[in-house]
Amino acid sequence: MKPARRPSNPLFSSGPCAKRPGWSLDALDGALLGRSHRSKPGKAKLKEVIDLTRAVLAIPGDYRIGIVPASDTGAVEMALWNLLGPRGVDMMAWESFGKEWVTDVTKQLRLSDVRTIQAPYGELPDLSQADFRRDVVFTWNGTTSGVRVPDGDWIPADREGLSICDATSAAFAMDIPWSKIDVATWSWQKVLGGEAAHGMLVLSPRAVARLEGFQPDRPLPKIFRLTSGGKLIEGIFVGDTINTPSMLCVEDAIDGLRWSLSVGGLTQLIRRSEQNLRIVSEWVAASTWAGFLGDDPATRSCTSICLRFTDPEVTALTPEAQADFAKKLAALLEKEEAAFDAGSYRDAPPGLRLWGGATVENEDMEAVLPWLDWAFATVKAETFGR
Ligand SMILES: Cc1ncc(COP(=O)(O)O)c(C=O)c1O
Repeated sequence: MKPARRPSNPLFSSGPCAKRPGWSLDALDGALLGRSHRSKPGKAKLKEVIDLTRAVLAIPGDYRIGIVPASDTGAVEMALWNLLGPRGVDMMAWESFGKEWVTDVTKQLRLSDVRTIQAPYGELPDLSQADFRRDVVFTWNGTTSGVRVPDGDWIPADREGLSICDATSAAFAMDIPWSKIDVATWSWQKVLGGEAAHGMLVLSPRAVARLEGFQPDRPLPKIFRLTSGGKLIEGIFVGDTINTPSMLCVEDAIDGLRWSLSVGGLTQLIRRSEQNLRIVSEWVAASTWAGFLGDDPATRSCTSICLRFTDPEVTALTPEAQADFAKKLAALLEKEEAAFDAGSYRDAPPGLRLWGGATVENEDMEAVLPWLDWAFATVKAETFGR
């Protein structure tokens, strides 16, 4: 039976993610349009993003927070290009984005002393392998596999190297212990449902010391440059952006951060997201056809919730036929306006992926699950001619 009720908001994309509940274009009324981002009010808006970010995430006062070009990718690559070189590097990767950073470091930067510590989709590599006498690059939450690091306990407080963390689908939904992090990056389009295009770059004092003490022997385009004459360009971290940001996106980022505070701050953002995972977990426990891509509950993501097929007839299909099955499932959910963009990532094992970040209401997560059951039964009946 087709479920009677649709989610009020059927947007489950893992990026750009659903806007916060109640969002409308009116939220952008205060945007500083047609004005320079270098004007006094323009800079004040940018500084507000930085200050609110620090307040919501409880980022220590001696950490720098910058707004940088080119979304999370820009922020990660800026960190890799500026910082890596003086020490060996351990690259931890367990899904598509982590692997992209491995490619950057081995094929583009072509650093000589690189160890790649990998795990297949659904698993986490052995974190104890990371050697913090070296620099360690990792993704807090693997958006395409739904597997996250459980905590920061595996990162020593007295590390010699830097811990460099792509936190784009973790920030604002997971607890990030700042004392264990030297570099963190994310984009606005994820957990707070902001607009794409701009990235955030957080630097610990040790990361700043590295920037000021190490001159990479490689060209750095203006868009990547964080230092001038061997000193950190402090302006970047108070709203003097490297190039021109969209003031419309800036206004939207402010709106998302203010909303975060209005619902109770980080604790409540995390609670909303963890509850979404709990709702799906209860459903999975009773499901005859779906399981989590990640087997270990301790490392299952509460934002990018990735599901695989467990139905014996479907898992007996060829990988291509399973991928086709998954595509039909996602297309049917979309056609019914029950869930948009719920297909698994193109390089990930076939299945479904539901974004459960803080902007997704728990009731909507509850409401979408009967639709998954209905859509699965419908596609299965079509596939097997019943
Ligand atoms: C873990 C991770 N890293 C990097 C990216 C790339 O982010 P952006 O497209 O914002 O640059 C994404 C996007 O989904 C991601 O999930």
